[in-house]
Amino acid sequence: MGNYHQFDVVVIGAGGAGLMAALYASKTASTAVLSKLYPTRSHTGTAQGGVGAALGNEGEDHPEWHTFDTVKGSDYLGDQDAIEFMCFEAVQAVYELEHYGLPFSRTPDGRIAQRPFGGHTNNVTGKPVSRACYAADRTGHMILQTLYQQCIKNHVNFYDEYQVLDMLIENGAAAGVIALELATGELHTFHAKAIIIATGGHGRIWEITSNAYTFTGDGPAIAMRRGIPLEDMEFFQFHPTGIYRLGILITEGVRGEGGILVNDKGERFMEKYAPKVKDLASRDVVSRAMYLEMREGRGIGGKRYLYLDMRPETVNKYAALDGRKRTDGSPYMVTGEELLSKLPDIVDFARTYLGVDPVAQPMPIQPTAHYAMGGIPTNKLGEVVIDEGNTVLPGLYAAGECACVSVHGANRLGTNSLLDLIVFGKYAGLQAAEFSRGASFQTLPSDPTDNIRQQLDLIRNSDGEEKAYTISNEMKAVMFDEVGVFRSQEGMQKALDKVHELQERLKHVRRPDQGKIFNTELINTWELGNLLDLAEITTVSALRRTESRGGHAREDFPSRDDANWLKHTLAWNKDGAISLGYKPVTITKYQPKERVY
Ligand code: FUM
Repeated sequence: MGNYHQFDVVVIGAGGAGLMAALYASKTASTAVLSKLYPTRSHTGTAQGGVGAALGNEGEDHPEWHTFDTVKGSDYLGDQDAIEFMCFEAVQAVYELEHYGLPFSRTPDGRIAQRPFGGHTNNVTGKPVSRACYAADRTGHMILQTLYQQCIKNHVNFYDEYQVLDMLIENGAAAGVIALELATGELHTFHAKAIIIATGGHGRIWEITSNAYTFTGDGPAIAMRRGIPLEDMEFFQFHPTGIYRLGILITEGVRGEGGILVNDKGERFMEKYAPKVKDLASRDVVSRAMYLEMREGRGIGGKRYLYLDMRPETVNKYAALDGRKRTDGSPYMVTGEELLSKLPDIVDFARTYLGVDPVAQPMPIQPTAHYAMGGIPTNKLGEVVIDEGNTVLPGLYAAGECACVSVHGANRLGTNSLLDLIVFGKYAGLQAAEFSRGASFQTLPSDPTDNIRQQLDLIRNSDGEEKAYTISNEMKAVMFDEVGVFRSQEGMQKALDKVHELQERLKHVRRPDQGKIFNTELINTWELGNLLDLAEITTVSALRRTESRGGHAREDFPSRDDANWLKHTLAWNKDGAISLGYKPVTITKYQPKERVY
């Protein structure tokens, strides 16, 4: 067999979860990482404001408070055993990153600096707590660089610019993956005892998104085509502050440092929607409030954007009104220089993309599609589970945004994604290595590349006139309008009909570039197929859930309905037909309550 490779553990994706998994797996197992990008270009690098851990460096805090906030933030859909596990592991995980050399920002006395983020509270006072451990506004970038260096030190085998297109499951167990070497167009077979999927999210389904062009849901789409269900796909998070029209993330850290959201009348409107924590309510709450303000004509100039104001005079005025104090008890006051040092990339982004100096002018922002709460179902050890009874598929693991543990439930708290990927990346790596020690390689079919070759040939030999970018734009527009912050039966049905039409049209794209070297046209078309399939499963899951919970807000079913819907969705795509099943939410300590912020 040409282009054949064999490893104990193969990791797909080189973001934070993939690198953490590879680092831990490589301690005892031969490990390869396959990435469609050069690893340090992975999307984790765009995460800005911080990683959540109750270190208590800037005020009292406890892992138990972090646990409760995450359960509440999830609108009670998160599995409480997994959430508790993550929040208690968080403290050690952050110190571990520090010891690997991650250059965290520091408090005046030299400890890891922390800032407030939405939904993270002092559970006694209900006021925001400083829990986000940060490296200026480049926390994800620093995590990525640090973990990549550690992986290199640990002799992980990297296959950069290898796009994984298929996964092999033999005798009910993980057996290997097929990847396209982008530089040559050659298919490669990676025979593995264990596979870890860590391919990130699929936010490119939506028109306005903070997600990189590479976030096309490859892992979940491949898994789905191999019979694995996807969990809670109806829950997709809109981050309140994306750059107007572009969607590029403006970190919640801006509000953590005291920035506020303002409408056309100059009102700090979050006072009305979340009187206790105001601009630092959870993201679903803030994004909905912004839509309501814009719908009622209070967008700036009546348009579909609002202002994020981090001018020092504004920050200081509202900090005084809120009675905000520094850790030493002095009143919270900032200068332009301090904001510039804590949020350098934000200042740069605003100047570059908006032509606005945020220390002197407010920034035009709008909610932006940001994070998939749903994905490939796993347990808290990263093992992929494939049914309502949580049956494990031997040798298959998933971690990070492509996975659904479920620690985020219906709405993720900011900073918990970086936490998710370091904690569950680590455990997926450890478990995969452990599994591979006792396992044998599965026998592969005589031509393992046959299935994907057929898929690619369909695209290569297509003889229609459709343009992939037109199909892509139509998908993004309808999903943003109808399966976005607010949803309804009628709108989602319209979106589903459109997605079905686009799936059909994708079969008739214009014959793409026939070259082998970096054939981005071929790959982009294949990726668009992934996005359409995930848009379909998202919409079908969302149509069926007749309630509002977290990031799934239905105009026609505005209340949360615990009696009927306190359960996880599982969605299978069998030969193009989607079927749904459900499994219970794990509740340990916290009975569902109404969320008040
Ligand atoms: O706002 C942010 O910095 C994003 C963080 C996150 O999504 O966790």
